Amino acid sequence: MRSKKKRTDRVALLLGLLCLVLVVIVGVDIWNNHKDKKERSAQKTASEETSEVIALPEEMMESESSQESESAESSEGSSATEESSEESSEESSEESSQESSEESSEESSEESEEEKEREPEPWNLTLVNRWNPLPEDYEIPEFTELRDNNSIDSRAYPELQAMFDQMRSEGYLPRITESYRTHEDQVAMMDYYIQSYLDQGYSEEEAKEMAEDYVAVPGTSEHELGLAVDISTADYEAQAPEVIWEWMAAHSYEYGYILRYPEDKTGITGYAYEAWHFRYVGKEAAKEIFEQGVCLEEYLDRIDATPEEIAAAQQEQSEGEG
Ligand code: DAL
Ligand code: ZN
Repeated sequence: MRSKKKRTDRVALLLGLLCLVLVVIVGVDIWNNHKDKKERSAQKTASEETSEVIALPEEMMESESSQESESAESSEGSSATEESSEESSEESSEESSQESSEESSEESSEESEEEKEREPEPWNLTLVNRWNPLPEDYEIPEFTELRDNNSIDSRAYPELQAMFDQMRSEGYLPRITESYRTHEDQVAMMDYYIQSYLDQGYSEEEAKEMAEDYVAVPGTSEHELGLAVDISTADYEAQAPEVIWEWMAAHSYEYGYILRYPEDKTGITGYAYEAWHFRYVGKEAAKEIFEQGVCLEEYLDRIDATPEEIAAAQQEQSEGEG
């Protein structure tokens, strides 16, 4: 009788322990869920805050943007160091005898030709156009979220913010309409344009050709690179986009951005004039491109359009003007 009671007591004790373990497990699970939710909502708030960045007046962003500008400047500093090391190797080759220096300069120019083919351009000068698709392994290390579901490569952000701050301080009302696009976004955009031309009664071939004047074939868009932004006005009634484009065309280089598809370079860039599309290349390159009045292809000495294509675009342009 007593041993039966003992067994019952043991079973009750075991059941009690089991319940306790269950309570602990469920408790930990609930806590983890709660923590996850909290972290997720903290992340969301952070990204919402960032997404306001482009829209807020500059004084609210001052400290953040100056911090980030500093890091951008220091990365530009490192590319300047690379240039000066190239200069010193050129100088030392001048010191050797003329004959051997000619040979070595021939060799080194051959080498640098090969190097050019082998070495990709630095990230800020990556050439993407209809002849040069996005490198297969191209990766954007970090994105900065902007307003209206926009985002860009974080390395191009501090100068973009500084540029918008400056424009706003001068009474301009810029807005970003397009920025980074995924490959799928680019496919959807191309399909949309082609369809709209088809709807207007153009043939498939015509619709595709017309769409490709303005929309890059998926895989060949700078928007997929995360370094391009399309700019418009935040308020059409108060300010026409042309007013903003005019400022951008004259000043964007000061912030490392270039007008990517100028009116007089359509044959070389492969695209019609796009007053709204700006590309980040870094301050140094942007200044040179602006001052020399060249497009990115010319600056990089990588003109892939055939002379016939360039002549045809020039012809088209002069007909348009006439
Ligand atoms: N509108 C430019 C060419 C693009 O789609 O990338
Ligand atoms: Zn664009």
